[in-house]
Amino acid sequence: MKSNVALIGFMGMGKTVVGKALAERLRKGFAELDALIVQRVGKSISEIFRQDGEIAFREVEIEVTKEVAGRKNLVIACGGGVVLNKINIDRLRENAVIVYLTASPAVILKRTLVDGEARPLLNVSDRGKEIKELLRFRKPFYERAADITVNTSRLSVDEVVERILSELNRYEGLH
Ligand code: S3P
Repeated sequence: MKSNVALIGFMGMGKTVVGKALAERLRKGFAELDALIVQRVGKSISEIFRQDGEIAFREVEIEVTKEVAGRKNLVIACGGGVVLNKINIDRLRENAVIVYLTASPAVILKRTLVDGEARPLLNVSDRGKEIKELLRFRKPFYERAADITVNTSRLSVDEVVERILSELNRYEGLH
Protein backbone atom coordinates (compact mmCIF):
# COMPACT_ATOMS: atom_id res chain seq x y z
CA MET A 1 0.00 0.00 0.00
CA LYS A 2 1.12 3.55 -0.75
CA SER A 3 0.61 6.41 1.67
CA ASN A 4 1.93 9.37 -0.38
CA VAL A 5 0.47 11.34 -3.25
CA ALA A 6 2.94 13.08 -5.57
CA LEU A 7 1.76 15.93 -7.79
CA ILE A 8 3.65 16.37 -11.04
CA GLY A 9 3.12 18.60 -14.05
CA PHE A 10 4.34 21.72 -15.78
CA MET A 11 5.02 25.04 -14.05
CA GLY A 12 1.85 26.99 -13.31
CA MET A 13 -0.35 23.93 -12.77
CA GLY A 14 -1.05 24.89 -9.18
CA LYS A 15 0.78 21.89 -7.70
CA THR A 16 1.59 23.81 -4.51
CA VAL A 17 -1.82 25.32 -3.81
CA VAL A 18 -3.65 22.15 -4.85
CA GLY A 19 -1.19 20.05 -2.84
CA LYS A 20 -1.76 22.00 0.38
CA ALA A 21 -5.54 21.74 0.06
CA LEU A 22 -5.36 18.06 -0.83
CA ALA A 23 -3.11 17.34 2.16
CA GLU A 24 -5.68 18.92 4.46
CA ARG A 25 -8.51 16.90 2.98
CA LEU A 26 -6.56 13.66 3.21
CA ARG A 27 -5.14 14.55 6.64
CA LYS A 28 -1.64 14.04 5.39
CA GLY A 29 1.48 16.16 5.72
CA PHE A 30 2.58 18.44 2.90
CA ALA A 31 6.04 18.73 1.35
CA GLU A 32 7.11 21.01 -1.49
CA LEU A 33 10.31 19.90 -3.18
CA ASP A 34 11.26 23.38 -4.47
CA ALA A 35 10.90 24.89 -0.98
CA LEU A 36 13.09 22.13 0.48
CA ILE A 37 15.71 22.77 -2.22
CA VAL A 38 15.72 26.50 -1.40
CA GLN A 39 16.10 25.66 2.29
CA ARG A 40 18.90 23.16 1.64
CA VAL A 41 20.95 25.43 -0.64
CA GLY A 42 20.14 28.69 1.11
CA LYS A 43 19.38 30.46 -2.20
CA SER A 44 16.26 31.11 -4.25
CA ILE A 45 15.54 28.84 -7.23
CA SER A 46 16.49 31.61 -9.66
CA GLU A 47 19.77 32.26 -7.78
CA ILE A 48 20.61 28.55 -7.94
CA PHE A 49 19.97 28.49 -11.71
CA ARG A 50 21.89 31.74 -12.27
CA GLN A 51 24.89 31.06 -10.04
CA ASP A 52 25.23 27.27 -10.11
CA GLY A 53 23.36 26.25 -13.28
CA GLU A 54 20.50 23.88 -14.02
CA ILE A 55 22.60 20.72 -13.61
CA ALA A 56 23.54 21.68 -10.05
CA PHE A 57 19.86 22.38 -9.34
CA ARG A 58 18.88 18.94 -10.69
CA GLU A 59 21.48 17.27 -8.44
CA VAL A 60 19.98 18.84 -5.33
CA GLU A 61 16.49 17.99 -6.65
CA ILE A 62 17.53 14.31 -6.88
CA GLU A 63 18.84 14.32 -3.28
CA VAL A 64 15.79 16.06 -1.84
CA THR A 65 13.38 13.86 -3.83
CA LYS A 66 15.11 10.77 -2.49
CA GLU A 67 14.68 11.93 1.10
CA VAL A 68 11.04 12.94 0.72
CA ALA A 69 10.12 9.83 -1.28
CA GLY A 70 11.22 7.73 1.68
CA ARG A 71 8.86 9.45 4.10
CA LYS A 72 5.23 8.37 4.70
CA ASN A 73 1.78 9.92 4.63
CA LEU A 74 2.59 13.02 2.59
CA VAL A 75 1.22 15.00 -0.31
CA ILE A 76 4.32 16.01 -2.27
CA ALA A 77 4.32 18.96 -4.68
CA CYS A 78 7.14 18.33 -7.15
CA GLY A 79 8.95 20.85 -9.34
CA GLY A 80 7.96 20.76 -13.00
CA GLY A 81 11.23 19.12 -14.05
CA VAL A 82 11.22 16.27 -11.54
CA VAL A 83 10.26 13.81 -14.29
CA LEU A 84 13.41 14.56 -16.28
CA ASN A 85 15.46 12.21 -14.11
CA LYS A 86 13.84 8.79 -14.11
CA ILE A 87 15.38 7.93 -10.75
CA ASN A 88 13.13 10.57 -9.13
CA ILE A 89 9.95 8.94 -10.41
CA ASP A 90 11.19 5.45 -9.57
CA ARG A 91 11.81 6.56 -5.99
CA LEU A 92 8.55 8.49 -5.64
CA ARG A 93 6.52 5.62 -7.08
CA GLU A 94 7.65 3.21 -4.36
CA ASN A 95 5.36 4.92 -1.89
CA ALA A 96 3.29 7.43 -3.90
CA VAL A 97 0.34 7.49 -6.26
CA ILE A 98 1.46 9.93 -8.97
CA VAL A 99 -1.04 12.56 -10.05
CA TYR A 100 -0.32 14.54 -13.22
CA LEU A 101 -1.90 17.98 -13.50
CA THR A 102 -2.11 19.26 -17.07
CA ALA A 103 -3.45 22.32 -18.89
CA SER A 104 -3.31 23.80 -22.37
CA PRO A 105 -0.27 25.93 -23.34
CA ALA A 106 -2.50 29.04 -23.43
CA VAL A 107 -3.64 28.45 -19.85
CA ILE A 108 -0.08 27.77 -18.73
CA LEU A 109 1.09 31.03 -20.34
CA LYS A 110 -1.62 32.98 -18.53
CA ARG A 111 -0.90 31.33 -15.19
CA THR A 112 2.86 31.80 -15.39
CA LEU A 113 2.77 35.45 -16.48
CA VAL A 114 2.25 36.59 -12.92
CA ASP A 115 5.42 35.18 -11.40
CA GLY A 116 8.01 36.91 -13.61
CA GLU A 117 11.47 36.21 -12.18
CA ALA A 118 10.54 33.20 -10.04
CA ARG A 119 10.74 30.69 -12.90
CA PRO A 120 14.17 30.89 -14.50
CA LEU A 121 13.29 28.49 -17.32
CA LEU A 122 10.51 30.84 -18.48
CA ASN A 123 12.58 33.98 -18.18
CA VAL A 124 13.02 34.26 -21.95
CA SER A 125 11.85 36.74 -24.58
CA ASP A 126 9.16 34.50 -26.13
CA ARG A 127 7.60 32.73 -23.18
CA GLY A 128 4.71 31.26 -25.20
CA LYS A 129 7.10 29.58 -27.63
CA GLU A 130 9.31 28.29 -24.80
CA ILE A 131 6.30 26.76 -23.02
CA LYS A 132 5.23 24.94 -26.19
CA GLU A 133 8.74 23.60 -26.80
CA LEU A 134 9.29 22.47 -23.21
CA LEU A 135 5.85 20.86 -23.16
CA ARG A 136 6.42 19.00 -26.40
CA PHE A 137 9.62 17.54 -24.97
CA ARG A 138 8.25 16.77 -21.51
CA LYS A 139 4.76 15.47 -22.28
CA PRO A 140 5.86 11.84 -22.73
CA PHE A 141 7.78 11.98 -19.45
CA TYR A 142 4.73 13.23 -17.55
CA GLU A 143 2.42 10.75 -19.25
CA ARG A 144 4.68 7.82 -18.56
CA ALA A 145 4.95 8.75 -14.89
CA ALA A 146 1.23 9.38 -14.26
CA ASP A 147 -1.11 7.02 -12.41
CA ILE A 148 -3.89 9.61 -12.54
CA THR A 149 -4.23 12.60 -14.91
CA VAL A 150 -6.36 15.68 -14.29
CA ASN A 151 -6.79 18.43 -16.88
CA THR A 152 -7.01 21.64 -14.85
CA SER A 153 -7.63 24.09 -17.73
CA ARG A 154 -11.26 24.78 -16.89
CA LEU A 155 -11.23 23.92 -13.20
CA SER A 156 -10.83 26.00 -10.03
CA VAL A 157 -8.42 24.86 -7.33
CA ASP A 158 -11.29 23.39 -5.31
CA GLU A 159 -12.58 21.52 -8.34
CA VAL A 160 -9.12 20.10 -9.05
CA VAL A 161 -8.90 18.88 -5.44
CA GLU A 162 -12.35 17.24 -5.68
CA ARG A 163 -11.44 15.59 -8.95
CA ILE A 164 -8.22 14.17 -7.49
CA LEU A 165 -10.07 12.91 -4.41
CA SER A 166 -12.61 11.07 -6.52
CA GLU A 167 -9.91 9.57 -8.75
CA LEU A 168 -7.96 8.48 -5.66
CA ASN A 169 -11.09 6.80 -4.31
CA ARG A 170 -11.28 4.68 -7.40
CA TYR A 171 -7.56 4.01 -7.28
CA GLU A 172 -6.78 0.96 -5.26
CA GLY A 173 -3.68 1.02 -3.17
CA LEU A 174 -3.64 4.38 -1.36
CA HIS A 175 -4.17 4.33 2.36
C1 S3P B 1 11.13 23.75 -13.03
C2 S3P B 1 10.00 24.04 -12.31
C3 S3P B 1 10.01 24.82 -11.08
C4 S3P B 1 11.38 24.71 -10.40
C5 S3P B 1 12.46 25.07 -11.36
C6 S3P B 1 12.47 24.15 -12.58
C7 S3P B 1 11.00 22.97 -14.29
O1 S3P B 1 9.00 24.34 -10.20
O2 S3P B 1 11.60 23.42 -9.88
O3 S3P B 1 12.28 26.40 -11.75
O4 S3P B 1 12.02 22.47 -14.79
O5 S3P B 1 9.85 22.84 -14.80
P1 S3P B 1 7.41 24.65 -10.41
O6 S3P B 1 6.89 23.63 -11.36
O7 S3P B 1 6.85 24.49 -9.05
O8 S3P B 1 7.31 26.04 -10.94
